[in-house]
Amino acid sequence: MNHYLDDTQKSKRLYERAKHVFPAGVAYFVRHMEPYPFYTVKAKGSKLVDVDGNEYIDFWMGHFALILGHSPPTIMKQVKRQIEKGTHYGTCHELEITLAEQAAKMVPSAEMVRFTNSGTEAVMYTIRLARSYTKREKIAKLEGGWHGGYDALHVAVKPPLNLAQSSGLTEGAMKDTVVLPFNDINRVEKAMRREKFAAVVVEPVLGAGGCIPAEKEFLKALRELCSENGALLVFDEVITGFRLATGGAQQFFNVLPDLTVLGKILGGGFPVGAITGPREIMEFMDPLLYERPKFSFHGGTFCANPVTMTAGLAMLRALENGEIISRLNRRGDKMRQELADVFERRSLSVQVVGVGSLFHTHFTDEEIKDVHAVFRADREKLRQYHMYLTANGVFLLTAKMGALSAAHNEQDVDKLLSETENFTKELRRCY
Ligand SMILES: Cc1ncc(COP(=O)(O)O)c(C=O)c1O
Repeated sequence: MNHYLDDTQKSKRLYERAKHVFPAGVAYFVRHMEPYPFYTVKAKGSKLVDVDGNEYIDFWMGHFALILGHSPPTIMKQVKRQIEKGTHYGTCHELEITLAEQAAKMVPSAEMVRFTNSGTEAVMYTIRLARSYTKREKIAKLEGGWHGGYDALHVAVKPPLNLAQSSGLTEGAMKDTVVLPFNDINRVEKAMRREKFAAVVVEPVLGAGGCIPAEKEFLKALRELCSENGALLVFDEVITGFRLATGGAQQFFNVLPDLTVLGKILGGGFPVGAITGPREIMEFMDPLLYERPKFSFHGGTFCANPVTMTAGLAMLRALENGEIISRLNRRGDKMRQELADVFERRSLSVQVVGVGSLFHTHFTDEEIKDVHAVFRADREKLRQYHMYLTANGVFLLTAKMGALSAAHNEQDVDKLLSETENFTKELRRCY
């Protein structure tokens, strides 16, 4: 750990500067780390290089957006060409149609598409659309689900779940949101008997909530309950879209939602979000068909800008035949097992969780089925583990899950395993 301080002196100075202009010294608190973050100057393939010249194998991968790794040549070439032709037309252009067609071809439940600039925006407009379509106000979300900072969904993310996740959320914004337990269909069923919902929003794999896949039976039953209730089932596939399968979690679990929210990978490394679903629902965003007050607004200055569309198209075309995703999923299965073996050899109670190319470790002997178990685990040990890895050239954002990308090679994974092994030796010495 001490050598992190020795090796990152320029980062330390940048952090001192940053503290004057950013609350908490960072542009987004999720990127905060102790004692201070390193500052990146270059990213290529599986590696980040910081301002002091240190190299890190990156398993955070741009908030899981970069499934091909940093700056993949296939995307970079096309983006550079597009930039020469314009970065932001503010008019209609062919690329937006082509990317929407490509997304609709790959995502089973997607017939029509609208682009946004972030996952948060896409979720926000999806909720509005669901309310417009169903003419209901109440919505439901699952415990531990993270859907971005939109008021109505910024509840019950991290325990204690009954404590506001942020100040500034009004009672008015909260009163129409009901929180349902994750992976507990009996309790969900009871709650759904009591209310009529416009939408039930779920991450098929809890991301920020601990990298916990929904049980397939849970998702299937949730699908049925939503149909009975008349609620739209919304999959937030901002992380799982184009990662678990070419058609995302809905293809992987074989459960179709009514509406799907996309983001991250879809942008090919540029800011993006998308709302997708069947024509019957999506057309509520068409003011030529639905006049006020029925019309459901969506829009934004940079929506479908040609740079994001170019990058996204190159990304989806690279993933379309499924080879990269299948390979990553197989590697993920193997790597989670190998990580679990490392902890087991030292008789440490650690749950290695995840699915496909996503992984996480929780320091507990309890089976991890929901966010409560994640927060009952030893979070301090997890923080020490991730700090140890970072100080030794393997970057996982503190206490967050990790993701494999196509740019990671065997040596990168071996380094994660060997540094984990080294950490477990230190841990044994200290405890
Ligand atoms: C599942 C999920 N939904 C929505 C969001 C919000 O997306 P963005 O950060 O692009 O606004 C995130 C971001 O991490 C996410 O993980």
